[in-house]
Amino acid sequence: MRDEAREARATPGLPRRELLSLPAALACGSALLTACADPDQARGADPDQARGAATPAPSAATPAPSAATPAPSAVTPAPASSPGAVREVPVTPPEDLMREHGVLKRVLLIYREGVRRIDAGEQVPAAALHAGAGIISTFIEQYHERLEERYVFPRLVKAGKLTDLVPVLVLQHQRGRVLTARILRATVRPTSQQARRGLTADLAAFVRMYEPHEAREDTVVFPAMREVIPPKEFTELAETFEEEEHRRFGAAGFEGVVGQVADIERTLGIYDLNQFTPRV
Ligand SMILES: [Fe+2]
Ligand SMILES: [Fe+2]
Repeated sequence: MRDEAREARATPGLPRRELLSLPAALACGSALLTACADPDQARGADPDQARGAATPAPSAATPAPSAATPAPSAVTPAPASSPGAVREVPVTPPEDLMREHGVLKRVLLIYREGVRRIDAGEQVPAAALHAGAGIISTFIEQYHERLEERYVFPRLVKAGKLTDLVPVLVLQHQRGRVLTARILRATVRPTSQQARRGLTADLAAFVRMYEPHEAREDTVVFPAMREVIPPKEFTELAETFEEEEHRRFGAAGFEGVVGQVADIERTLGIYDLNQFTPRV
């Protein structure tokens, strides 16, 4: 069974909204059960984890942190006055968008492997590239980028923020769709010798554009969302994103797409992370 699929099935049929409302003991995971119950013990077991567990987590209803605010924790401690109260692990819209960028990044790595093989004179992995481009089309271009264009960019522009950057990002979305359409056409069947050069150029151009694109969104655009979207709307936006995710991708949602990417990586032999660890 795929690792991702196994992880996704750890809570079968449980929507993320409900998962977020699980008691804190479950949200912490078995390894941290003790840590959650006893912060002092946790500090002894793993200082870094314990610091995170003891840090008040900003929820979507928390005002935007200043530069001096401690890094957010994934675990929200329950108020001392309400022992046993259900704790929530907030999944914010930026987190949603960033993990979708993780899918994009993994397809970029698939594209890189395709370019490497073509440049080395090996057979074009047309089926893998076609499947990767299909995920870019359905998950990134028709879903992720639509969320950005509908819910993120307009709010920033309306607030007078990042007005130079947003048009560039929108143009790159459009150019990316042109490249994806060409990659899909070029890989629908075994790639001819004469099409190899054009395919390589399109794959490389896509990677070249989207690496800085997603990095800029992660570090500048998504953090700015907190400054222009009121806390209550922030929470509602998280719900909107989740509903749209499951409407488009079924019960498996994001985890299902991650499983598809992992399958493509396996066919190319680039799934096992150990191979990328340098021998130093
Ligand atoms: Fe984007
Ligand atoms: Fe994005």
